Amino acid sequence: MAVAAVPAAVPDVTSPLDQALARCMAPVAEADSLPPACYHDADVMVRERPSVFRRGWLSVGRADMVREPGDYVTMTIADVPLIVLRDKKGDVRAFANTCRHRGAKLLAGEGTTDLIRCPFHCWTYRLTGELVGGGYMEQTASFDKADYGLIAFPTEVRAGFLFVCLDPDMPDLDRQIGDFVTMHAPWPIGDLVLTRRRELHVDCNWKAFLEVFNEYYHLPYVHPDSLSDLYDPPAPADPVTGDYATQYGVTEGTGGLLESQQRYALPKIPGLTGKAANGVRYTWLFPNLTFAAGTDALWVYEAYPDGPERCRVIQSVCFPKETMALPDFEAKAEQYYIRMDAALAEDVPALVNQQQGIASPFAQPGRFSVLMEPNVARFAAWYAGRLLAA
Ligand code: FES
Ligand SMILES: [Fe+2]
Repeated sequence: MAVAAVPAAVPDVTSPLDQALARCMAPVAEADSLPPACYHDADVMVRERPSVFRRGWLSVGRADMVREPGDYVTMTIADVPLIVLRDKKGDVRAFANTCRHRGAKLLAGEGTTDLIRCPFHCWTYRLTGELVGGGYMEQTASFDKADYGLIAFPTEVRAGFLFVCLDPDMPDLDRQIGDFVTMHAPWPIGDLVLTRRRELHVDCNWKAFLEVFNEYYHLPYVHPDSLSDLYDPPAPADPVTGDYATQYGVTEGTGGLLESQQRYALPKIPGLTGKAANGVRYTWLFPNLTFAAGTDALWVYEAYPDGPERCRVIQSVCFPKETMALPDFEAKAEQYYIRMDAALAEDVPALVNQQQGIASPFAQPGRFSVLMEPNVARFAAWYAGRLLAA
């Protein structure tokens, strides 16, 4: 089945790079892969910041990464340092991690706090963003603390994923993600609980990391002894509306465990029926979050640029609360974490190797396998559209 590219008018372009980008917007069977410059060129990265990361909504992970009031995490999205926290009323908020005095970063890492205190001169903010403390400002003309609250960004939650919008035009999130929620309705994704979140850095472009998670093509060659036999060839990609791509595939056993560890399988997610109970749905929420909805667990990766040839990756794993209540949950969940890390240990060298090849001045755009790489192709079309529209 031919899968249409992201519908968008292909702009009239003249530079060789933009012409190469425009060729990514064709239907999958005809499209080129992204131009190699998109994976290593600092100028492309500069172009991505406003067109990819500061337009529309971004999913920045599971909303329960900040579970209790006062919990916070920090992150940097394409050079924008952010704080995500849960305030005392239980609402999730996102702020620029930049002090309103003279710009210092306010928080680092993650933790729990009552107030946000700047480490430089101790301006202090409530978890709702208001400036409440800061000494020696009495003689400063017309200084009103009410004018110097943290810069706040809108947040929304869909299917348990937290979305943040750095775009001042703030488009409608539901319009942006189209039929994403109904496509994933068979899985109670919004009810799943985050049990593991870890960060790593990979020496590859952020897009390449997300791409390898979204294609079945490499499985027999990169994961021959660990995972490949679990995965049947995938179903054709589902036609979707919205800025995402998804592909379902039947698995022999659970895709959440290594082939050799299937005896540790945890129960299926309550309520899963039909085809959802027999495989894994791989989904990419553009631009930066991807996940696998399995029969027993959800595993999620976010990737953010950390330079053109390096990315910061967050791995999240979630289970149903019924499963977490089982006495052997911790021991069995550990086997799922081992599987996730084992897959990474095989994917990362492949990505580093790809990065070295694609950075060559002689690298050229390639083509896609319609069955094995439709998610990658749909992303390329979406990404090209964003860059060309900017
Ligand atoms: S920069 Fe934060 S208090 Fe001065
Ligand atoms: Fe892989």
